[in-house]
Amino acid sequence: MLQLELTYAQEDPAHDPEIEAINSQAFGPGRFTRAAYRIREGGSHDRSLSFVALQGGIVVGSVRMTHIVIGKTRALLLGPLAVRPEWKNRGIGRALMSQAMEAAKLAGHRLVVLVGDEPYYGPFGFRKVEPGRIMMPAPVDPHRLLACEFTVRALENVSGLVRHADRA
Ligand SMILES: CC(C)(COP(=O)(O)OP(=O)(O)OC[C@H]1O[C@@H](n2cnc3c(N)ncnc32)[C@H](O)[C@@H]1OP(=O)(O)O)[C@@H](O)C(=O)NCCC(=O)NCCS
Repeated sequence: MLQLELTYAQEDPAHDPEIEAINSQAFGPGRFTRAAYRIREGGSHDRSLSFVALQGGIVVGSVRMTHIVIGKTRALLLGPLAVRPEWKNRGIGRALMSQAMEAAKLAGHRLVVLVGDEPYYGPFGFRKVEPGRIMMPAPVDPHRLLACEFTVRALENVSGLVRHADRA
């Protein structure tokens, strides 16, 4: 069987329909009510920090980054991260994470937050946020609200409501 090479690329508008299909399959209709979605619908995401995994030109995984404000502090919201079911457990999720985090760091960002499972995101430097510090626009399991500091104490004194940066 012909095995087409897996490649990674910065996200492009042409990828949008496939990414939407992947996210729909991964998160279902309930995704529209999730806190992270509510923030993301406030504006666009940053394609220069968002990546896709491609096989033979088909999108098999995607990760996005969105500019946010926490209280008065600028930060990034990572997600959604999703991989097509038949492509799971091949390291694609981790590779997408590495690319997005590296791009964010290179672009000079200091803080990234996400809603997700610490066992998966911990190796990328994500830790639970102290409960009550960062408020999301919809309820979130406090164990799943994670942050990664690119610079020392980037999270210190950061508190407040998370909004899309365009809504700040
Ligand atoms: C989470 C997801 C993006 C991982 O992508 P992937 O390409 O399969 O991941 P990788 O191949 O890089 O890593 C696989 C490893 O992560 C583990 N893993 C997957 N999801 C996990 C989770 N939610 N919590 C902890 N570990 C997880 C797998 O068990 C596997 O472990 P192993 O390497 O010890 O066998 C993918 O499973 C997915 O699309 N899930 C549905 C959408 C989703 O839940 N997105 C994340 C929101 S928190």
